[in-house]
Amino acid sequence: MPRPVTVTYSVSPSSAAVARAAAQLFTDAAVNAVQHRGTARIAISGGNTPETVFELLANPAHPFVTQVPWDKLDLYWVDERCVPPDHAESNYWMTREAMLSKVPLAAERIHRMEGELDPHVAAARYESTIRNTFKLEGAETPTFDLVLLGMGDDGHTASLFPHTEALDNITDIVIANHVLQKETWRVTLTFPVINQGRQVAFLIEGAGKAQVLHDVFTGPYQPEVFPSQLIRPASGQLTLLLDAAAASKLPVPSGASPAEPYIGSLELA
Ligand code: 6PG
Repeated sequence: MPRPVTVTYSVSPSSAAVARAAAQLFTDAAVNAVQHRGTARIAISGGNTPETVFELLANPAHPFVTQVPWDKLDLYWVDERCVPPDHAESNYWMTREAMLSKVPLAAERIHRMEGELDPHVAAARYESTIRNTFKLEGAETPTFDLVLLGMGDDGHTASLFPHTEALDNITDIVIANHVLQKETWRVTLTFPVINQGRQVAFLIEGAGKAQVLHDVFTGPYQPEVFPSQLIRPASGQLTLLLDAAAASKLPVPSGASPAEPYIGSLELA
């Protein structure tokens, strides 16, 4: 059975407010990691939702770009599509356009999954990158300071899609995953590595995610159907950053109003 987890969901009334909350979480995680360990290692997701967060982090009109310790940050990806780095579908390309081309993060600290390669080669090379940069020995696995996740309306996260082989892999750090429903290959961190993150957070927006959020966090445990249910951080804590639309089918704390920011909590047994 999965480990018990306290899910804390921070609900903001607007998409802009959620993006600010996510940018603040990213910044705080990086600052805290550097203060305690001298370096920050963060793994980010792709897709559409985080783009505004990355733009905020790079925007000189906001405080984040001067607060993030870019010179001590190592940036990784949770997953990548098997396309070239300048392809419209590339998570790296989205992040480069939104943030990397505008912030002082050194190229050697940007650890890109090489989507242009054979998926298995890309996964093996990325596992080596992680082992080398985390200085792992033997069967050690990495502890990211923050893992920032999204969730698809099918309940997938990272590139852990329903009924795919990756859901059963508890031994590798990075794997190639064939996603039949998309007729494509992906490269992804495995769920045990995600769960080892010091802080794990989902960033989810939009009414289209309300039902799957309800199913994942309040429905029966069926991770083959809803792979996001595999995300049960070893820390015992899981953060959701949501807008009101996405949170509309989760319990609203007494006295809270969707028109104002609120924080809810639920226990996963
Ligand atoms: C990807 C992401 C993926 C994403 C979800 C949600 O490569 O697409 O890593 O896991 O987080 O698909 O995507 P949206 O934010 O676009 O809804």
